[in-house]
Amino acid sequence: MMKTFYIETFGCQMNAHDSEKVIGTLLTEGYSQVETPEQAELVLYNTCSIRDKAEQKVFHRLQQFKKDHGKGKVFGVLGCVAQQEGEKIFEKAPHVSLVAGSASYTKLPQMLVQLERGDRRVTGLSLDTADTFETPFTRRDNPHRAYITIIEGCDKACAYCVVPFTRGPERSRTSESVLREARELASKGYTDIQLLGQNVNSYHDPSPAGWRFARLLRAVGELDGIKRVRFTTSHPRDFVKDIIDAIDDNPVLCNHVHLPVQSGSSAILERMQRLYTRDEYMRRIDWMKSARRTISITTDVIVGFPGETESDFQDTLTLLDQVEYDSIFCFKYSKRPNTSALALEDHISEEEKTRRLAVLQEKQRAIQIRRNSELVGTVEEAMIEGFNRATGQWIGRTSQNRTLNFTHPLYGSLEENVSLIGKYLDVRVTRAGPNSLAGEAIN
Ligand code: 5AD
Ligand code: SF4
Repeated sequence: MMKTFYIETFGCQMNAHDSEKVIGTLLTEGYSQVETPEQAELVLYNTCSIRDKAEQKVFHRLQQFKKDHGKGKVFGVLGCVAQQEGEKIFEKAPHVSLVAGSASYTKLPQMLVQLERGDRRVTGLSLDTADTFETPFTRRDNPHRAYITIIEGCDKACAYCVVPFTRGPERSRTSESVLREARELASKGYTDIQLLGQNVNSYHDPSPAGWRFARLLRAVGELDGIKRVRFTTSHPRDFVKDIIDAIDDNPVLCNHVHLPVQSGSSAILERMQRLYTRDEYMRRIDWMKSARRTISITTDVIVGFPGETESDFQDTLTLLDQVEYDSIFCFKYSKRPNTSALALEDHISEEEKTRRLAVLQEKQRAIQIRRNSELVGTVEEAMIEGFNRATGQWIGRTSQNRTLNFTHPLYGSLEENVSLIGKYLDVRVTRAGPNSLAGEAIN
């Protein structure tokens, strides 16, 4: 009987956390996890289809292990590519026996039974669900930081985006169930919580309490034992000032907001169906800039969206100067199945997209060097995540989500001091680079 599994995860934090819940479910069903696909009887890929490249990676992986099919392995494709491609995957990769999207994970135990009795075309593809995926046991990767899903799916219709098709309609969990999970995590020693959703700002408690996001954020921040709370991802349209007020009122709520802008041109934002203009976006930035603590702001940008002129692109560059982000993720536009942007003429060459991406990254690099260097001489609290043997530095993360590598006057190596991981220490910043800070612990 097949009872070992291997899982590889692609994509965003939602996917990483889905995998933690899938692993919890499999362990509960009597499976044990192994480290390589070769050792496993059940091989799972939890996939991402946000851009074409991410999707290609998955099919490449499936081809790699095709030859193992005869040896009794069972292959399953989970996540966004599964939902998007559906039963077509059985044609493209006939050795696959399970295709299931995230909206069907509550049915995983039944799907496992079907696989165990030898079914070779098991699917979970319905998006018509009111369920969220809650598990009695979640196998968490990190002993100090934990993800909690508060809302699944997405009701927006951004012209470039597959997510509404791969993760289905928005479903919020009750505030009671979110708080129960957070309390349980705190009692197990977790101190850092990240609230997750495709659009956490449109959280709407389905119970009579009817809480909106800022209320839930405040409540999680007030729990005993919780030292840091982050949230991702935010949509500017639903981002209200109450969220900034909550951050202002409680230092446990991290002073970092990831607010994807996608473009600095209102004309392109309209074509993208983002539901805000540049000015409306900037109003949210102004709220953050007038907060009591300095809020670190990060974003996502797409270059080369259909119809993006040189002048639209310049608008994105001036936006970077105006906002002064601490970090950005930028992507070349990639055509995705089912999306409305497919109907727009995509006349921008790959070379031009590559050029715009490079110009954007170069500008942002200069901004980051400047912003990070302003922190030299300050003291930042770092949560310790690990130790880098090559450099002899501890690896920390600040509340603003910057990486802060540092030395400790007493604890110079990992062997003696594993217990430092998960602790919070004050660190004086002595050097700054574009992507990280370096310093020395002062306590
Ligand atoms: N092409 C390029 N980038 C995309 N993103 C989403 N869809 C696409 C696409 N079709 C980017 C957006 C989003 C991030 C997660 O991925 O910037 O915020
Ligand atoms: Fe990828 Fe988006 Fe799916 Fe996350 S939700 S795995 S980013 S396609």
